[in-house]
Amino acid sequence: MNWFFRAIIVLASAGLIVGCTGEKEATITILISPDHIKGWKAIGEAFSKKYPNLKVNFEAPSSSTDDRQTKYTTCFLAEDAAYDLVYMDIIWVPKFASKGWLEPLDDKFPESARADFLPGDIEGSIYKGKIYRVPMQSDAGMLYFRKDLLEKAKLKPPQTFSELMRACTKLQKKPDLYGYVFQGKQYEGLVCNFLEILWGYGGDVFDSDGKLVINSPEAVKALGWLVDAVRNYQVCPMGVTTYNEEECHRTFQEGHAVFMRNWPYAWSMTQQEGSPVKGKVGIVPMVHAAGKKSAATLGGWGIGISKFSNNKKEAWKFIEFATSAPIQKLLHEREGLIPTRKSLFKDKDILEKSPHYGKLYKVLLGARPRPVHERYTEISDIMQKHLSASLIGDETPRQAARLMAVEIEVALGQK
Ligand code: GLC
Repeated sequence: MNWFFRAIIVLASAGLIVGCTGEKEATITILISPDHIKGWKAIGEAFSKKYPNLKVNFEAPSSSTDDRQTKYTTCFLAEDAAYDLVYMDIIWVPKFASKGWLEPLDDKFPESARADFLPGDIEGSIYKGKIYRVPMQSDAGMLYFRKDLLEKAKLKPPQTFSELMRACTKLQKKPDLYGYVFQGKQYEGLVCNFLEILWGYGGDVFDSDGKLVINSPEAVKALGWLVDAVRNYQVCPMGVTTYNEEECHRTFQEGHAVFMRNWPYAWSMTQQEGSPVKGKVGIVPMVHAAGKKSAATLGGWGIGISKFSNNKKEAWKFIEFATSAPIQKLLHEREGLIPTRKSLFKDKDILEKSPHYGKLYKVLLGARPRPVHERYTEISDIMQKHLSASLIGDETPRQAARLMAVEIEVALGQK
């Protein structure tokens, strides 16, 4: 290769080539989930129409939040400029921000611009007073049920853990129809599912003073309930300990489960033309123990800018564009993803297709964050390991609760 072409490649990768319009030509890269790639590509195309000098490259290596976090982390550790935009799960913010891998966005995204966003999504984007992402997709766990099957059996949607278990054993007709599907694989989704049950029994991981309280009777009951569902009452399919969100969604949509715990995105797909459960699905807040309250895990995604990007200005243009109301609406229409802008929960078109959005809005407002901690990944890894060991019968819930506590204490240097 001669010196001229080599120089072009160096300049291009540093994003320094300026097009004939006088604007810098750049391709900005972002890592997302393959599950929603079509919607994102439509956003990329609309963006390039508005800014013909800019292109967005979507890398979609894995559905798992853990895998994508590892990919971003590896890249940041090498101070690599491969990703300009960081599409961040709410739980990554403290870690990425504390390591200095993100650009603070306070000047570009001031308080006044944050007013239309759901408060939990904004709070989850802030670390030590600075904001690092603009919320794009909100999330909170919900319980889906087969309205038709419950009505036929003259059952109301369950409110407590025991009502749910009873309805599962009563309505399931194995092997074609199982009672319950949830995210039982050893990954972040399992922690989200477990926390809803733990909170529903009145327990927690840390108390309000930051003291670790996971080795508790509530944790044993919560994990015991899941173990009952999988192993003792067998209301879940055999493979549930390998299910993530999409496996649950597919099983439910194909009509093989009465109940499903999932994020709200699955709703629109179950209601699409040709879906075997179209018109037969209801959604309620997750169940809880008698006398306690239900709790949804707060999830959600937002876009930030990598400290190592060579295209920070262009990356911001994309963030502004993608998180605007019309584009969030587009992503919702294409992929069923939940907007983060309050105004969209009153949008006529959205309400027409998703009449439960009024209720969902309230669930989102009350959703609870996972432990907000710089070392959350380690905490979650420990939980994932022992929750999973219990579900496959290698540890009792009591052993799992004790081991989670011991290992988290050691990891955080408290022992
Ligand atoms: C959803 C949530 C995210 C959570 C993940 C777990 O994508 O939005 O916060 O970590 O599911 O699988």
